[in-house]
Amino acid sequence: MRRIVLYDESSRDLGINVASRINAEAKEITHKVFPDGEQYVRVEANVGGSDVLYVTRLYPNQDQGLIRVMLLLDAVKGLGASRVGLFIPYMPYARQDRRFLEGEPVSINVMLNVFKNLGVEYLYVVDIHKPQSLEGYQGFINLKPFKLYAREFKNLSNPVVVSPDSGSLWRAEELARELGVEYDYLEKHRDRYSGEVSFTLRSINVKGKDVVIIDDIISTGGTIVGAAGMLRSMGATSINVVATHCIMIGDAEAKLTKAVDKVRCSNSILGKYSQFDVSQLINQ
Ligand code: R5P
Repeated sequence: MRRIVLYDESSRDLGINVASRINAEAKEITHKVFPDGEQYVRVEANVGGSDVLYVTRLYPNQDQGLIRVMLLLDAVKGLGASRVGLFIPYMPYARQDRRFLEGEPVSINVMLNVFKNLGVEYLYVVDIHKPQSLEGYQGFINLKPFKLYAREFKNLSNPVVVSPDSGSLWRAEELARELGVEYDYLEKHRDRYSGEVSFTLRSINVKGKDVVIIDDIISTGGTIVGAAGMLRSMGATSINVVATHCIMIGDAEAKLTKAVDKVRCSNSILGKYSQFDVSQLINQ
């Protein structure tokens, strides 16, 4: 079946790279925002009978991005596409993956259900907050970037991989396995009402080591800055950070510059630290 990759202005680089990796044609869609904030999309490519993969970054302006995806899905359906997939490297709303407090929604399910109901047959996301969120959604796949990350840390002299909380421990384990080194985790708590982060002292072996902290998201930087402080107080020699999705709210970059030696992120969100190209994770 003929394959076409569609992309918009948020994702030109990714769209073109992905298309060349999977031997597909690449076409930019027309996308405009009206003065009242409503959006317009138009697909001018002939996608009838084709397998269409829409590549788009949903951050920043994730709510606008989600509406753009919904409009695009209807447009390609109207043109008679045979199969439709999405590549959304940073999946927003994924952190609300359960009802932490009574009366809350399971936001990630809302988003995934919208995609399914609009006919999305396959979805690629990168390092989603909890891979389990995709269970039960056939064809929805979490791409893991840890092999790309491992190449960067091969030369550290005495590395150990640490996750800032137990929820990311599996990431530390996977990266540590690639590097053939030890891994551990810190005990983070987040106040569900204020959002404030704190750590409980947990004795782990980082003295004299080059620590690699791995997490999925850096938002305010509070998690990484807190973790780095704790690891330094335990005698870590250097603190290297790798996170897939670097949102970097407010003064996050300034706080991180003071707290850690180096930050590396993927280009799922574009920014100063975008280093790993997530289009390399698409192979089919
Ligand atoms: C939460 O569980 C995530 O994995 C990240 O640790 C969190 O989103 C980071 O947020 P912040 O940078 O605001 O601490």
